[in-house]
Amino acid sequence: GLLCIIQVALNISLRLSLEERSAGVPKRLFQKGWEYFHSSFYYISSTEKTWQESRDDCVSRGANLMIIDSQEEQDFTRRFPKRMWIGLTDRAQEGTWRWVDGTLLQRSYWYSGEPNDEWGEEDCAEINYKDVENSWNDMPCDRQIHWICEKKMAP
Ligand code: BGC
Ligand code: CA
Repeated sequence: GLLCIIQVALNISLRLSLEERSAGVPKRLFQKGWEYFHSSFYYISSTEKTWQESRDDCVSRGANLMIIDSQEEQDFTRRFPKRMWIGLTDRAQEGTWRWVDGTLLQRSYWYSGEPNDEWGEEDCAEINYKDVENSWNDMPCDRQIHWICEKKMAP
């Protein structure tokens, strides 16, 4: 009898705390494929697309390509040993790298020698799979690789 009451109380408090934590977060973000880290949800693709198709895919999921604006976020990407598009491009103006939210690139994590705009054709940024802190490379935007979406939950 008493155990039963305790059980019910625990169930209710657990449920309440779960609901509190997830208040206002769309259900789909708790589903397969999304990972939570430092106030954002991230989606790592299992297929490969061009940079623009990747971006469109993220937007259709209510997100955008990943914007890396902290050392912690950059470190987080090392959990995924894939070549992945991030939300960074200089296709509007060569040499001026902007995030998909329009902000100018400040702190960067380019691999040594990058961005090199090889053949004058590389305007989109990828996380290269090399296990190094500075992992970014510029690539032709029409290459098909994986991508990582980000949905920010807090400003
Ligand atoms: C170069 C990169 C370039 C890539 C293109 C590599 O060998 O180091 O700068 O973006 O080839 O696939
Ligand atoms: Ca390059």
